[in-house]
Amino acid sequence: MSDLPVVPRRRSWAEPWKVKVVEPVRMTTREHREAAMREAGWNTFLLRSEDVYIDLLTDSGTGAMSDSQWAGMMLGDEAYAGSRNFYNLWEAMTAHYGFKYLVPTHQGRGAENILSKALIKPGDFVPGNMYFTTTRLHQELAGGTFVDVIVPEAHDPRSELPFKGNIDLGALEAVIERVGAERIPYVCLHATVNMAGGQPVSLENARAVRELTARCGIPVYMDATRAVENAYFIQQREPGQGHKRVAEILLEFCALTDGCTMSGKKDPLVNIGGWLAMNDEKVYEEASNLVVVYEGLHTYGGMAGRDMEAMARGIGESVQDDHIRARIGQVEYLGAKLMEWGVPIVRPVGGHAVYLDARAIYPHIPQDQFPAQMLAAQLYLDSGLRAMERGIVSAGRDAATGDHHYPKLELVRLTIPRRVYTQAHMDVTAESVAAVYAERDGTPGLRMVHEPKYLRFFQARFEPLD
Ligand code: F0G
Repeated sequence: MSDLPVVPRRRSWAEPWKVKVVEPVRMTTREHREAAMREAGWNTFLLRSEDVYIDLLTDSGTGAMSDSQWAGMMLGDEAYAGSRNFYNLWEAMTAHYGFKYLVPTHQGRGAENILSKALIKPGDFVPGNMYFTTTRLHQELAGGTFVDVIVPEAHDPRSELPFKGNIDLGALEAVIERVGAERIPYVCLHATVNMAGGQPVSLENARAVRELTARCGIPVYMDATRAVENAYFIQQREPGQGHKRVAEILLEFCALTDGCTMSGKKDPLVNIGGWLAMNDEKVYEEASNLVVVYEGLHTYGGMAGRDMEAMARGIGESVQDDHIRARIGQVEYLGAKLMEWGVPIVRPVGGHAVYLDARAIYPHIPQDQFPAQMLAAQLYLDSGLRAMERGIVSAGRDAATGDHHYPKLELVRLTIPRRVYTQAHMDVTAESVAAVYAERDGTPGLRMVHEPKYLRFFQARFEPLD
């Protein structure tokens, strides 16, 4: 027997990039963080970023751009009308998402506002696979009512269904029968589903939704914010799809819809920007008219020329298989560590984040004492790690009754920015979560002391209960 060490026979993947510029982050003391948390009203949105060590609040606009994107910024054509960067963005969108028309907006919710205003009439219903905060609000402000038609497994953090973002076809059919196709301006298909834990929709489900809605003449508009991540899950999990490239699957998926809203701050790898895209010329007419009222001219929609160039280039980078494997691989790495240590998280691990199950971690805190809000605060106090509540605070109030929505999922989201943090940052994160989990007994709940009218989770303030 040789006593030479055994060399493991395996091949790991690594990020398909190397670091060229670094940005210092600050480490703080517990005492400093306690003062900062009090100042922020126990809401991680109200912390100053300078007081944060590892920032997993969101993957929105927090990614690192490539050298090619930064170089593209210098090629910004800042003409008010007809900037060449707009045409580059349009080309990139059509090449990778396949839609005919592009209406640029300052970010995703700008596109949601315009789509809602263009298509929804008061009294309409918009079925969708789970609500998203800004999407539902714009539907409601336009006079519509959102109806959740996601599969029931999406509400169960422990269900291992590979496509927990799917639409429940029976539920969708029932809504169409109940309210009538003429009162459904479109079906809103999120891919992936953020509030369910970044869970994907299968190609098979999108196809079935297309067939069902086409029979009744109802269009399908997608929230394509993380559709590249969705396409990667299809490649990895859906039978018969493994041989295709992510870019190919993305086009196939989009072809089952009539258009999309997009927050460029996620998949497309930029810090700001968004768009609305569609195939229907009449909808394009209406949307490019509305965009000049709310966003800017229809060839910039609130973005600078340089922003549009960075996004055009980012789109091309975002659909590369190596990129998306490393991006989701990092999220899975963090999730696997936490599962190994027995921390309750939403399973399977989603595309952009690991979601902690606050209901399981703090079973002694009633939902209206905001367990997930408290868990996010405790993570910050422990290590300077910033996460986001995705539970009752995010769900807001029922527009009709004024009572809290009580979502089944009471979660804290550890959201991984794209191309920003290293594996060591993931280790530090996992260790902090484990430390807070170990101290879970006896942690008190919170009471809300300030509640804004719209999207309250951004600016609400809290105090701990004794
Ligand atoms: N749709 C989804 C699925 C989103 O996740 C977001 C934003 C939007 C639409 C709105 O886009 O922010 O560009 O106006 N999500 C961020 C998050 C804020 O942290 O999940 P936006």
